[in-house]
Amino acid sequence: MSAAASGPSGHASGTASADRPLLSIADLAVDFGTVGGPVHAVREVSLDIAPGEVVALVGESGSGKSVTALTLLGLTRGPRTTVRGSATFDGLDLLVAGDRELRDIRGKRIAMVFQDPMSSLNPVLRVGVQIAEQIRAHEPVSKGEALRRAIDALREVGIPEPADRANRFPHEFSGGMRQRVMIAMALSCRPELLLADEPTTALDVTVQAQILDLLMRLRDERGMAVLLVTHDLGVVAETADRVAVMYGGRIVEEAPVEPFFADPRHPYSWGLLGSIPPMAGARPERLPTIAGTPPSPSALPDGCAFRTRCPHAFENCAALPPLVDHDPAHADRCWLPLERKQALRDLGDGRIGLAA
Ligand SMILES: Nc1ncnc2c1ncn2[C@@H]1O[C@H](COP(=O)(O)OP(=O)(O)OP(=O)(O)O)[C@@H](O)[C@H]1O
Ligand SMILES: [Mg+2]
Repeated sequence: MSAAASGPSGHASGTASADRPLLSIADLAVDFGTVGGPVHAVREVSLDIAPGEVVALVGESGSGKSVTALTLLGLTRGPRTTVRGSATFDGLDLLVAGDRELRDIRGKRIAMVFQDPMSSLNPVLRVGVQIAEQIRAHEPVSKGEALRRAIDALREVGIPEPADRANRFPHEFSGGMRQRVMIAMALSCRPELLLADEPTTALDVTVQAQILDLLMRLRDERGMAVLLVTHDLGVVAETADRVAVMYGGRIVEEAPVEPFFADPRHPYSWGLLGSIPPMAGARPERLPTIAGTPPSPSALPDGCAFRTRCPHAFENCAALPPLVDHDPAHADRCWLPLERKQALRDLGDGRIGLAA
């Protein structure tokens, strides 16, 4: 059975509370037309998120994580973009929703923290006003009330002297502070689903822990679900209920967090797990590279996209492996038999050497 066919009720995610997913992505594909030919950024991605569930999306640079998240909010739409599949949120297919319907949902019911905070803050508006406007776009509150809530939101993400800070412009904030402003803005309308694209990458470890604690508290108190895009598997282990690993635009492994770390199934996941950032010291901006480079999405190899870098590739890998649930809720896209993988890992041969 493919993972696409199994809903979150089949997933043993710790805190997911409802049987019905809040968001159900089915067979999502996103292609960009470019002068160099089509870029298949996302292919056949199916993923459910239950209310209150934290699903981590991990994978190397260019694997399609941001495009997946952006497409849910209609932000990759354009004359050269082709989007297929569906993404059902509370009965509405976000992929075909009208601009107006999406505007009503965006920021209010589904909020996004963008990978690049500067690109989504207006440089000529004071941050308090920006957050207040965002609140007033969705809720009938006075300007004064909206500004008070904006200040509360800044306080909640740990910005010191929030009343004073609300009067400042984005360029007056450091990178980490701007990221916190973005998070405050995203949370200000109490979304049911937060799409958080590397929300803590620019933050130091202490602030990162504080932000993650805040997200977990909102998940517990409000039942907010989170799609957490991150390169930091330490963060995944601490916060996520479920993990989806992307490679070359496809999900190659999906599992609840405990089995993922205890019994990872895809050779690419083994490579990633060999790349956990150190607990102490500087955190890398990006996952250390697995030997070889990720293929360009415009020139992916046929069959398993990872086969050109996989030390365990064999003749079957020339054909695309399906995403198969070997156990309920633990799916992977690899032709190696489970017993063979177990043996490789027992031999200590599961790790993929890191590039020098
Ligand atoms: N508008 C676009 N036009 C053409 N190609 C695009 C466009 N947006 C993204 N891509 C390509 O799609 C692929 C997936 O990009 P995406 O931004 O989703 O990667 P990512 O997994 O978020 O990587 P990172 O970890 O670096 O943020 C990349 O090869 C990227 O160059
Ligand atoms: Mg990205």
